[in-house]
Amino acid sequence: MALKWLWVGVAMLLSFTMLWAAEPPTKKAVARDERLFEQIEEIPNLLATGKTTPERIPDPHWREDACQACHKGRPTAQNTALRGKNINRLCFNCHVPDSAKNHIHAVDMKPSAEKKNRMPEAFAQALKRGGGVITCIACHDLPMQCQKERFAERKLNPMFFRGGPFQYRTDLCFNCHDPSQYERLNPHDQITDEGTLNKKACLPCHRDSPNRFQVKSIADASFNVTDDLTQLCTGCHPWIPHPPGISSTGPNHLTKPTPEIAAFMKETEKKYGVELPLDPTNGQVFCATCHNPHERGMLQGSAGRGADAKFRLRRPSDKMCPSCHNK
Ligand code: HEC
Ligand code: HEC
Ligand code: HEC
Ligand code: HEC
Ligand code: HEC
Ligand code: HEC
Ligand code: HEC
Ligand code: HEC
Repeated sequence: MALKWLWVGVAMLLSFTMLWAAEPPTKKAVARDERLFEQIEEIPNLLATGKTTPERIPDPHWREDACQACHKGRPTAQNTALRGKNINRLCFNCHVPDSAKNHIHAVDMKPSAEKKNRMPEAFAQALKRGGGVITCIACHDLPMQCQKERFAERKLNPMFFRGGPFQYRTDLCFNCHDPSQYERLNPHDQITDEGTLNKKACLPCHRDSPNRFQVKSIADASFNVTDDLTQLCTGCHPWIPHPPGISSTGPNHLTKPTPEIAAFMKETEKKYGVELPLDPTNGQVFCATCHNPHERGMLQGSAGRGADAKFRLRRPSDKMCPSCHNK
């Protein structure tokens, strides 16, 4: 009970500080930025010369009055009247192409016959409209955010995934990829059926396959990102604020522990022979503080605890909170 009220308190505090900190831009500034809907081709140049910032790029999705950002004239199913022939380039005006954060899948590849045969009709048609190669519309069903009648789908499918919403991201993938090749999409599968180490499975997260007999702590492991290690996970796992399990009003756990909590975590590590590693790039709690992303048997001792456990938790569910909180 006490804990519940504490959450309410923290939530209120958070919403007040948010109001305080994120002062909304003035109407005039918004109108100025939204003029860019008429000339999205200018955006890359404005960004490059520092005349605008990524935060100020106006969002045209799910709006009745921003069609001109992507269309010229009057679009119909027969003639979509897009602002440019190249769909990827159209999107890249606003979505920086080489940012790992922006999208997790490469584009412009021609699918193998095997993939083409698997694709449901809607994907095959989108592939055709994209010129026979993977474009953004292969996975993102744009008309969903174009047509007012479909705006209600936003709640369940905010990224307008074709055929979505999906309970698991991998359900989208299996429209084209062979589920029996699942291992290649599941980076937690790190030991082959023959029992040998699958070094390739390290590469979604590590810059190289760490030598598991030499690398003995997070500090010695090399990663694909140099800041904010949560990015290693959020490309595949949507971030839903948790624990304590309740919505976005719960306390933010992806933060730097207070000295008291940090000391208590150290005690837990010693007492129970587990690791509760912090993100070395910013000292914060991150996904792998609580979850072990490795396969059981791959790492020995404390580093291996929690691998393949329920929810991959480093300690059992009911022992998680008291691993860091001394109450
Ligand atoms: C972010 C870019 C974007 C915005 C904004 C946008 N559209 Fe689209 N729209 C597209 C793309 C891309 C396609 C082609 C999709 C395809 O071929 O699968 C499309 C397709 C369409 C189609 C054809 C639908 C069909 O059944 O094939 C219509 C009609 C349309 N848009 C109308 C609109 C209207 C009206 C608005 C504003 C309310 C709008 N769009 C806003 C990108 C956009
Ligand atoms: C005028 C600029 C602009 C264009 C053109 C544009 N987008 Fe966006 N898009 C945005 C902005 C701004 C956001 C919100 C970004 C954010 O919240 O970080 C966004 C968000 C998204 C999202 C995430 C939605 C969500 O709720 O998380 C997807 C998916 C997306 N865009 C796909 C596309 C695709 C595909 C195209 C090309 C057909 C496209 N966009 C064209 C500006 C644009
Ligand atoms: C093969 C499928 C696929 C293709 C092709 C694809 N996307 Fe996505 N896109 C996804 C998935 C899955 C996510 C969700 C990833 C996540 O939550 O981090 C996503 C997320 C996004 C987001 C939201 C990212 C965020 O962090 O909020 C944007 C923007 C986006 N895609 C734009 C694009 C653009 C632009 C293209 C074309 C250049 C494209 N996507 C092509 C599957 C695809
Ligand atoms: C619309 C079809 C389509 C969808 C949906 C799709 N992919 Fe792909 N993917 C491709 C194509 C085409 C290639 C290029 C290689 C090929 O043709 O075999 C590819 C390549 C890849 C590769 C490179 C390694 C390989 O297998 O060749 C990975 C990893 C990958 N996809 C992951 C994903 C994930 C994760 C998802 C779901 C979020 C996804 N894909 C959804 C079509 C798709
Ligand atoms: C899904 C992402 C992911 C994959 C895939 C992955 N790792 Fe890691 N690895 C991490 C993270 C995050 C850490 C830091 C947290 C920790 O120490 O467990 C880490 C840490 C390590 C460490 C240091 C462990 C310690 O003593 O604290 C070793 C060794 C390691 N990884 C080896 C591997 C090998 C070998 C593979 C491939 C077979 C692999 N990892 C695949 C994310 C991953
Ligand atoms: C390339 C995609 C990918 C990346 C990157 C990835 N995962 Fe996963 N993860 C998966 C897949 C696929 C599964 C298996 C889902 C299933 O079996 O339903 C999974 C399962 C999990 C589960 C168990 C979920 C459950 O319901 O039991 C956890 C926890 C998890 N991952 C944490 C992480 C963490 C932490 C990281 C980053 C260090 C990470 N993952 C990176 C694809 C990914
Ligand atoms: C402070 C500890 C903690 C942190 C940090 C944390 N998790 Fe979790 N996570 C948990 C617990 C506890 C559960 C089990 C929830 C339950 O019992 O339902 C869980 C469950 C999950 C699941 C499975 C739940 C489901 O609905 O399938 C996934 C996937 C997951 N976490 C991914 C992540 C990712 C990705 C991050 C980082 C962005 C992260 N977690 C950060 C503690 C944590
Ligand atoms: C990996 C360590 C870790 C785990 C596991 C963990 N927490 Fe936390 N928790 C933290 C950190 C760090 C903070 C932020 C403290 C701060 O900034 O004051 C925090 C903050 C909180 C707060 C806000 C009030 C406070 O004490 O600052 C509550 C409530 C809370 N956690 C509850 C939980 C519950 C319930 C669980 C189990 C489901 C849990 N925590 C699991 C580390 C953890």
